[in-house]
Amino acid sequence: MKVFVVGSGGREHALTWSLSRSSQVKEIYSATTNAGILKLTTAAKVDAGNVGSIAEFAARERIDLVVIGPEQPLVDGLADALEARGIAVFGPSQSAARLEGSKLFSKEFMARHNIPTARYVVVDDAAAALKAVSAFGFPVVIKADGLAAGKGVVVAADEGEARQAVQDMLVDRKLGEAGKRLVIEECLVGRELSYLVFSDGKDFAAMPVAQDHKRAFDGDRGPNTGGMGAFSTPGLIDPELEAQIVKEIVAPSLEATRADGFPFRGVLYCGLMLTADGPKTLEYNVRFGDPETQAILRRLESDFAELALAVGRGELANCKPRWSNDTSTCVVMASAGYPGAYETGKVIHGLDAAEQVESVAVFHAGTKLNAASEVVTAGGRVLGVTARATNLEDATARAYEAVGKIEFEGLQFRRDIGKR
Ligand SMILES: Nc1ncnc2c1ncn2[C@@H]1O[C@H](COP(=O)(O)OP(=O)(O)O)[C@@H](O)[C@H]1O
Ligand SMILES: [Mg+2]
Repeated sequence: MKVFVVGSGGREHALTWSLSRSSQVKEIYSATTNAGILKLTTAAKVDAGNVGSIAEFAARERIDLVVIGPEQPLVDGLADALEARGIAVFGPSQSAARLEGSKLFSKEFMARHNIPTARYVVVDDAAAALKAVSAFGFPVVIKADGLAAGKGVVVAADEGEARQAVQDMLVDRKLGEAGKRLVIEECLVGRELSYLVFSDGKDFAAMPVAQDHKRAFDGDRGPNTGGMGAFSTPGLIDPELEAQIVKEIVAPSLEATRADGFPFRGVLYCGLMLTADGPKTLEYNVRFGDPETQAILRRLESDFAELALAVGRGELANCKPRWSNDTSTCVVMASAGYPGAYETGKVIHGLDAAEQVESVAVFHAGTKLNAASEVVTAGGRVLGVTARATNLEDATARAYEAVGKIEFEGLQFRRDIGKR
């Protein structure tokens, strides 16, 4: 198989790494400067942000399978453009990607199909927004309709914060067109859980649950980030709760995509709040999360290339994933200042030594090669140091042993990943 991986972060390095271990895969292509991905792939001369450019390249090079990591190309219709050329795709159609691309669309979808979610109203002017805000009371949740790279949701504690959010998103358009319409919704209380499945449009297969760590500092303090680490270990979810989530949310959501004419192929990520009133859907994502993917894929026993192809072709029934009972821990190493402003171009030392620690894989997020072919930092989140072992203590200890071998100026990481 010739495979193309779209995307350039830690999630995509983990996808590439998984594909590279398959005996079915002859060559992998990418369009990125990520040094970790580049080491495993052939650089494709395409415009990475352009659907037509990727689709033409894939057709010309006779690519068998395209694995799409991030949401933007899915929302832009990359899967459709590839399918029109007869190329198998791991990732949903543009219609299905609206589940993530528009909060308004996804709320209406949930309402139409009786999928448990927070009560909401949709507004497109400030007066209506403030009226809705006071009707719900505080705290209240204000969401920009469109994609906003994790910056589109405000949980407002009081009227002042709510007014500010409405002003920023709807009036001042700080998120651009994404804030043209807002969803105002009831604030749910409970523990959050992400539940991910592979779906081929007919069947689905669950992934093991991962615990992520979104705050910048130890003890879940500090600002929100894209994710500072994750671990996945058996028993993170109670089987009864899992059965309830599948019955009340996952199965009806996937059934509803068929009923609405956009059978879902790819990864459906259900962001859930476990309320006293049962699990409720906060949002859908239409792709893997980052860095949970890094932890989850380390537990996959089956061949990821075969699995991704089966998802793309609607053949998941014959190719269910097998998962290990091992544990994996992923510790993110970030640039000083992240999630705020940070410098780049710092030389990274010790990558080889880190990868020599037993069962460690270092997934690159924001890295690139400099003119001297050294690996340097090129983003806020730089590396996802991921280890696997038979239990959480060992996986976590190995991950931190490898972290200890890596150096770059100003590095920061949490010391409490996987140490619940
Ligand atoms: N209705 C809600 N009640 C309470 N918290 C919420 C609600 N909706 C979202 N949140 C919080 O905001 C975060 C981001 O919201 P989400 O819908 O996942 O949007 P996105 O991931 O696109 O930014 C959630 O992870 C959760 O912590
Ligand atoms: Mg979310």
